[in-house]
Amino acid sequence: MVKSLIMENLLHARDKVGVQDFVLLEDFKNDKAFINNLKKRFQENLIYTYIGPVIVSVNPYRDLNLYNSDVIEQYKNVNFYELPPHIFAIADNAFRFMREECKDQCILISGESGSGKTEASKKLLQYLAAASHHAPSVENVKDKLLLSNPILEAFGNAKTNRNDNSSRFGKYMDGAPLGGHILNYLLEKSRVVHQNHGERNFHIFYQLLAGADNKMLEDLELRRDPSAYFYLSQGSCSKLRNIDDADQFSVVDKAMNITDFTEEEQEGVLLLLLQCCTWVMLALSKKRVKLLLCMTNLFIPFANY
Ligand SMILES: Nc1ncnc2c1ncn2[C@@H]1O[C@H](COP(=O)(O)OP(=O)(O)OP(=O)(O)O)[C@@H](O)[C@H]1O
Ligand SMILES: [Mg+2]
Repeated sequence: MVKSLIMENLLHARDKVGVQDFVLLEDFKNDKAFINNLKKRFQENLIYTYIGPVIVSVNPYRDLNLYNSDVIEQYKNVNFYELPPHIFAIADNAFRFMREECKDQCILISGESGSGKTEASKKLLQYLAAASHHAPSVENVKDKLLLSNPILEAFGNAKTNRNDNSSRFGKYMDGAPLGGHILNYLLEKSRVVHQNHGERNFHIFYQLLAGADNKMLEDLELRRDPSAYFYLSQGSCSKLRNIDDADQFSVVDKAMNITDFTEEEQEGVLLLLLQCCTWVMLALSKKRVKLLLCMTNLFIPFANY
């Protein structure tokens, strides 16, 4: 008992590094004071700080064990300011408002590339999924919505020079966690034919080559080495530091089955990928590739509408 009280006090002392809410900063108009507060807290692994109802998050680029089920339980139905700042508090607040006031809620996440927007949106979904318990039929829809993420990321995310898992598309998930649809799918299509140095094409190409078994590759007449394909090797960097493409391929494969892609549709997707990889085998001259790139760029602004 005494030990747990001491632990609790220590935890609270730790949480009070700097101010937990920027509105409490004495010199709140001073940029340096703002950054100093963020820095002080970040050095103690406190990555979240409020500005009133807004939360500022600093990307730790490592697992701080902040999102397990115990933490989810802690934040359920608790008043915003009773616990240290956390993305789960934002999710809980929106969820409770939605239920109590019967009003739709919207959480806006913004930041530069690599700042952690996608990870934050996954934490929000993780919390909302855990906070809402429904009939098995509804749970099924919810699982599908969560499982759509690895598929969307495989086809819509790529390694850039700023982020190994950069979202190259815009999406708006409507209706989570009960179900719903994903709107406004704006994809950076030019990446399929052109990558800057140090960048990759969309993850799915490398996942397919790394994860498909020998027979599948043989059937598709594909080679395992991405550098065999012009459209997969312009960035001269086909591997990610911390993500295993082969493992991800099996995750995507399972997710496609669970989200009801038929065998025929999955085959169609594979053929399309194959086509994109081998297109350059048509031995286009440099001049033609340039012309094609120009045309792709010309059409992209219109392609999404
Ligand atoms: N809360 C977090 N805890 C630990 N690591 C994190 C966290 N948020 C982000 N990261 C790390 O930072 C990387 C980049 O984050 P993320 O992909 O969410 O950025 P983003 O803002 O969506 O970027 P982009 O605009 O390029 O899509 C993640 O792959 C992960 O390694
Ligand atoms: Mg992202």
